Amino acid sequence: MTVRIAIIGGTGVYDPNILDNIRDEKVDTPYGVVGLKIGDYLGKSVAFLNRHGAGHSVPPHLVNYRANIAALKELGVKSIFATAAVGSLNENMAPGNFVFADQFLDFTKVRKHTFFEGGEQGVVHIDMTDPYCPELREVLARAADEFQLTYHKAGTYITTEGPRFESVAEIKMFKLLGGDLVGMTSVPEVVLAREKEMCYANISMVTNFAAGISPTKLTHQEVLDVMAENAENLRKLAMRAISLIDPDRGCLCQDALEKLNKE
Ligand code: HPA
Repeated sequence: MTVRIAIIGGTGVYDPNILDNIRDEKVDTPYGVVGLKIGDYLGKSVAFLNRHGAGHSVPPHLVNYRANIAALKELGVKSIFATAAVGSLNENMAPGNFVFADQFLDFTKVRKHTFFEGGEQGVVHIDMTDPYCPELREVLARAADEFQLTYHKAGTYITTEGPRFESVAEIKMFKLLGGDLVGMTSVPEVVLAREKEMCYANISMVTNFAAGISPTKLTHQEVLDVMAENAENLRKLAMRAISLIDPDRGCLCQDALEKLNKE
């Protein structure tokens, strides 16, 4: 059975035991070898990729995003649900809430952002009007409604380079720019997925109010604690979303390059 659906597990989401018949796989890509797990859920084959590697050993700026996305493409994945722990700049998006981001602002610095670096690959300027698949976001909202989770159907995700948290002045600036969430991983992951013509949805879990909004200083432990408290909700949400989608579904995201060539 071809693997059509993938979960990218971010901080605090390391446990694919929701899947049956789990096996370890190594996928060779031009960007490196990627270790991931493949299992079944309700007759669907699902890949589970731990973004930060074993024991959260890879910091956000050093994640091999291109290898990860290329590996999922290689398996035949069409739809990706990617989890992310985030800080909130929006008073309505409180710790414990889910947000299905619809936009991003990119403040990363040293990452490989494209598969197209000239030469044989050519140069591609991919459309980013709707970076996160609107259909998958709709599915997530349906799943969240079923479990009566507190969620927001849209939000702007600021991606910082990390691994440090932000200064108070940076958070003030991000807020002025229209940011709702701050995290360290969504870019370039979402961009690379579109370059490989895969649908990609972000499941942000708010773990804290951002620096200067939170009354206390931030710690990674705080992030992990809130993720742990909500692990069960996140698991239910992701699995319900998987059960709601047709693995072989088509979508405009899956014609992103073809569309480009026609214009
Ligand atoms: N900033 C950046 N990344 C984060 C935060 C934050 O406040 N919380 C969880 N991930």
